[in-house]
Amino acid sequence: MSNQRDSFHSRIGFVLAAAGSAIGLGNIWGFPTQAANNGGGAFLVVYLLVTLLLALPALYAEIYLGNQAQSNPVSALERACKERLPRVGRYAGIIGLVGAMMMLSFYTIVAGWMLSHALSALTELFGFVDISNWLSTSSTLRNIIFTPIFIILGALIIHQGVHAGIEKWSARLMPVLLLMLFGLIVYILQQEGASEGLKLYLIPDFTQITEPKLIISAMGQAFFSLSIGVGGMMVYGSYMKKDKDIGKLVLSIAALDTFIAFMAGLLIIPALFVAQHAGQQVFVDNKLIGEGQLIFKVLPSLFQSMGNIGLIVSFGFFSLLSIAALTSTISSTEVPVSYLVEDKKMSRSKATWLVSAIVLMASMTLVAFFDALFGLVIMVLTTIMQPLMCLFYFIVIGWIWQRGNKLNIKAQTENNKWLTLFANYLRYVCPILLIVVFINIVFLA
Ligand code: PHE
Repeated sequence: MSNQRDSFHSRIGFVLAAAGSAIGLGNIWGFPTQAANNGGGAFLVVYLLVTLLLALPALYAEIYLGNQAQSNPVSALERACKERLPRVGRYAGIIGLVGAMMMLSFYTIVAGWMLSHALSALTELFGFVDISNWLSTSSTLRNIIFTPIFIILGALIIHQGVHAGIEKWSARLMPVLLLMLFGLIVYILQQEGASEGLKLYLIPDFTQITEPKLIISAMGQAFFSLSIGVGGMMVYGSYMKKDKDIGKLVLSIAALDTFIAFMAGLLIIPALFVAQHAGQQVFVDNKLIGEGQLIFKVLPSLFQSMGNIGLIVSFGFFSLLSIAALTSTISSTEVPVSYLVEDKKMSRSKATWLVSAIVLMASMTLVAFFDALFGLVIMVLTTIMQPLMCLFYFIVIGWIWQRGNKLNIKAQTENNKWLTLFANYLRYVCPILLIVVFINIVFLA
């Protein structure tokens, strides 16, 4: 067997795959829901700040760690900590791996909703109204059917070796998703009630900006949206040739991801108000009703208002979301798969099916105890595990790896003042900022 690792063939290949990982349900479902729940504009401002100050550096740190190590996240962290705390590095890698599985356990459920809504539009188009109604109504049975379908779809792609297919699909379909978002925004803004949503979203209420709960939610959302803290970006970084100019790549990934989230807000938040204007109950005490499932009622009624073409738009929209979810799922699945293949010498195919089987069990447990577990798993992952992992990355790069000199040495040899500044920012400012947020979380709990 050859020891050659699979890799991306170009910088653009890497950027597309990483953007494919970042752009997903987090942007189009998570971000607008969170923003609507947390004061709209205030959430947007804090989200942008947190992305710039913490998530972007964390994304850099994660990709840099993987890129230097050229190996799966567990070995990568173990090696980076080898002089001082090799065990700790390994355990941290495994915690990341558990995080990736947690992400998959709820993400595949939501992705299943997207699939069933796409099919619902299609069946209605062909006149099967009853089936279509069933497909668009949430139920445990629907979860039991569509979650596994989504997991199997993902596994089929991953086990073939992802890159060529996924890279090409992302390149072709991302622009279509963007165009569709544009078109829908133009449409929704002409509907009655939309301007109220626009106001909530774009005019921040500055009194809410220092609200600790809002800051924590925005941070969790930013880390989730950029896919950091579970090793997915690390493993992609490891598939890129060593020592590329990572900074620019990281900036473009973050800019793309943030732009799509912003656009999704521009669609969904006004859509919520249009629905409210039409008599649907949307908020109770300033909170969205129904655990984030509401947009699955609001969006289809928006499509319906378009007349016949609405069904085609609905089919297209939910299919594209399913694909966006697939490219995100793949990066998370790659974390345990790469570990099993490289460290446990398992075949890629076997590793993929094993991981998928575990994810299936986990997601079915969530389906069975939906009310108790679904929101809890999301909360624990995004507001505790992902930020903790990021704190660990900062400490590894700033203090442990070659005694914290790794990035500084790179900056000095390249004589790069910006990088020196950034290295110090990672070393001192980022951990302090994160710790301050954690203290808040502890006091809130
Ligand atoms: N970033 C993805 C999204 O916004 C979700 C994700 C999280 C993917 C963690 C991989 C790892 O939908």
